[in-house]
Amino acid sequence: MFGLTKQNFKWTVVAIISLSALTASWSYLPHLAFAPIALLVVVLVLALIRRQYAARQTSLTDPSLSQRPAASSPKPKAASPAAKPKAASPAAKPKAASPAAGRGAARRSRKGQELLHPDARVALADERQDAGIDEVFTDLDNKLVGLYPVKNKVEEIASLLLVDRVRHRFGLDAPRPNLHMCFTGEPGTGKTTVALQMGELLHRLGYLETGHLVHAMRDDLVGEFIGHTAPKTKRVLDRAMGGVLFIDEAYYLYRASDSKDYGQECIDILLQVMENDRDKLVVILAGYRDRMDEFFESNPGMSSRIAHHLDFAPYTQDELIAIGRAMLSDASYYLSDQAEAAFRDYLTLRMRQPRFANARSVRNELERARLRHAHRLASDPELSRTRDDLMRIESADILAGPVFSQHTSLSVVDD
Ligand SMILES: Nc1ncnc2c1ncn2[C@@H]1O[C@H](COP(=O)(O)OP(=O)(O)O)[C@@H](O)[C@H]1O
Ligand SMILES: [Mg+2]
Repeated sequence: MFGLTKQNFKWTVVAIISLSALTASWSYLPHLAFAPIALLVVVLVLALIRRQYAARQTSLTDPSLSQRPAASSPKPKAASPAAKPKAASPAAKPKAASPAAGRGAARRSRKGQELLHPDARVALADERQDAGIDEVFTDLDNKLVGLYPVKNKVEEIASLLLVDRVRHRFGLDAPRPNLHMCFTGEPGTGKTTVALQMGELLHRLGYLETGHLVHAMRDDLVGEFIGHTAPKTKRVLDRAMGGVLFIDEAYYLYRASDSKDYGQECIDILLQVMENDRDKLVVILAGYRDRMDEFFESNPGMSSRIAHHLDFAPYTQDELIAIGRAMLSDASYYLSDQAEAAFRDYLTLRMRQPRFANARSVRNELERARLRHAHRLASDPELSRTRDDLMRIESADILAGPVFSQHTSLSVVDD
């Protein structure tokens, strides 16, 4: 009645108090004192009006605030993709295909993130595109030949996070999943390359602020003297914050035979950070599978903090040839038919030797073949060369390698 809402009542009280203060000061105080009091009243009223206006703006953009303040506030991760222009938040461009999503996009959480209307509909394909993760998978496919089980596992992890991200947009709160991982496999099987892509993926999905990768081994983390290990480990952790800490040959951190080894101090710090800062850092432990298994048996705390295990199988000879072809093609080279046969022979011999490092050995051998190719062409400088001559690796460029020399045992190539 008479429009006397709670709001109007409040303003009426403010007006009465202000007028009474002004009248009293005019009547009872010297007129000189009236000016500052009038000014004070004006300032107070203006401040009140400003507060009122700000509150109204907030309630207009987020009517849900009063309904579910805590549960509906999404984690900071949802904000991160917005920082990347190509990974703009889905609500930044409401989809024509889902009008309900557009309807819900006006609701915002306390942190300024939009909440969808409960009836909204979201296509995960759109969400993937908005986050820009299809590009990461295309990159993964282009960079890495084969590795299908690993790629499938990365897809699984991405799906979990994608669904989690959409749930947050609806205000469905869930604890951040544990993302620490273990990559096992022989050297040169693509662990570091996949870890780099994983960092990018987690960044685009909003789970890591930067997604950069810091590579570390025992020597980077463990000191030689008392008091050296903690600052060393913390320095590396600081560098890795916001991204991925990739600990190669992580089992060297622990020396079962030496109870006074400083590696344990490093492991204890890592365990603490992996628990307390799991929203800021993802740790990936890498190394040979059997040694990692032993490491986890001796360090159950570490084992329990690892959520995903990805196993990188050694490449078959055919896969190594395909990897070699892809590497050469990236650099605008190719193997002639005879060169490919020679390369197959090279792999047969090299795979039996110690320190064979899968795709890394392939890369190194092909770089050496390019040197020999260049040297072959340069050794006859008068001869004119075609474009194809400059691209084609011949069998001679492969067969000149030390692996084919008579003393193979003395000719182990260190890849
Ligand atoms: N499946 C693959 N396809 C193409 N290149 C590969 C593949 N796996 C590894 N490589 C290449 O081999 C080299 C070593 O790979 P890396 O990821 O460092 O292996 P790891 O960390 O397991 O030792 C890199 O140059 C990488 O690009
Ligand atoms: Mg590596």
